[in-house]
Amino acid sequence: MTTIAAMEPLLPDDNKELEDLATDLVAKASGLATRLHPVLRASVGDLVRSMNCYYSNLIEGHNTLPVDIDRAMNNELATEPERRNLQLEARAHIEVQRMIDRGEGPSPVMSEAFITWTHRHFCERLPAEMLVVENPESGRKITMAPGVLRSERVRVGRHIAPDPADLPAFIKRFAEGYTSSNLSRLRKIIGVAASHHRLAWIHPFLDGNGRVARLFSHALLRELDVGSELWSVSRGLARSVDNYKTMLQAADEPRRGDLDGRGNLTLAGLTEFCRYFLSTCIDQIDFMEGLLEPSELLRRMEIWAREETAAKRLPKGSWPILRMAVLDGTFARGDAADITGYATRQARTVLNDLINQGYLISETTRSPVRLGFPASVVDRWFPRLYGEGQ
Ligand SMILES: Nc1ncnc2c1ncn2[C@@H]1O[C@H](COP(=O)(O)OP(=O)(O)O)[C@@H](O)[C@H]1O
Ligand SMILES: [Mg+2]
Repeated sequence: MTTIAAMEPLLPDDNKELEDLATDLVAKASGLATRLHPVLRASVGDLVRSMNCYYSNLIEGHNTLPVDIDRAMNNELATEPERRNLQLEARAHIEVQRMIDRGEGPSPVMSEAFITWTHRHFCERLPAEMLVVENPESGRKITMAPGVLRSERVRVGRHIAPDPADLPAFIKRFAEGYTSSNLSRLRKIIGVAASHHRLAWIHPFLDGNGRVARLFSHALLRELDVGSELWSVSRGLARSVDNYKTMLQAADEPRRGDLDGRGNLTLAGLTEFCRYFLSTCIDQIDFMEGLLEPSELLRRMEIWAREETAAKRLPKGSWPILRMAVLDGTFARGDAADITGYATRQARTVLNDLINQGYLISETTRSPVRLGFPASVVDRWFPRLYGEGQ
């Protein structure tokens, strides 16, 4: 039996630095990519969901190649079991995030219903062997039921997570504490950071807590009109993964004496974690803002298109078509002739080639086209999205 007071404090005390970070986050999030055409934003959303699953799984040591994620989304699964499992896991993550981004998850996000829904939908899509978890304490193998709170005791780092019997009470207190009507919007945004730690601390499931907590924080940011499908905090957490885990662990520590708040857990550790989490969000928005800056994006794409055309991997006339897809978001297939200045048949050949290579997407053979981002061009059009750097 653990008393729910063991999880206190839920929020840092009033803190000017955290409020400034939250204010900055709101301002930057609302400015992100407002100049992008909405249709193009939807394509970027697909790309960022792939990138988010890549990084969130990477944090757990599951390294799935972006090209394999792309293939999984096209139902091309590897025969090799390990690789195929990672592909299924990636697809599961993307599908759950897509449901969240479409507003199909339970509302409000800050609830046991949402947390178990996320776990259920993610795990239901995983191959059976990925649901088998070995308890490191007992060595016993247990098959996890999707969306069901754990019935085993677990240790996370040095922290012993709450007793299984107490999980519903902890989650209830958690949901109430972060949605109190006394909280200002800024305090709720700081609460996104704090609740990320507290959810990991509760560790509601036998496995999958990291992925669920990151999807949960994403959904919470969206609900507060700060998050969007255009950026992912997981990218930032993954790129400083040692720091992420150290900060999580530091916030698990008991209060360090009289100057460290009045709860059971360290106030300083929680404040530090919030600073880290909010700064990481801001860095990621800055990064995406830079990548999506339209004139720079067009410049990178044009250089690439020139090289590809010279190498005969792209048909002549491709660039004006791709450029139009960036600027207008979408256009009718019949417009290709006007855009290129070619005869109708020749323009159609160019268009079909671009569709076949995945640079343009069209839901049916007659519907309008929009830009696609196959894994092969992501490094050139969106450098450092996956690779080294910031
Ligand atoms: N010391 C810690 N305190 C709290 N949470 C932690 C700590 N160390 C790791 N975590 C969280 O636990 C997650 C791993 O838990 P796990 O259930 O295995 O999730 P997943 O299956 O998604 O990897 C990490 O991603 C991290 O979010
Ligand atoms: Mg795990």
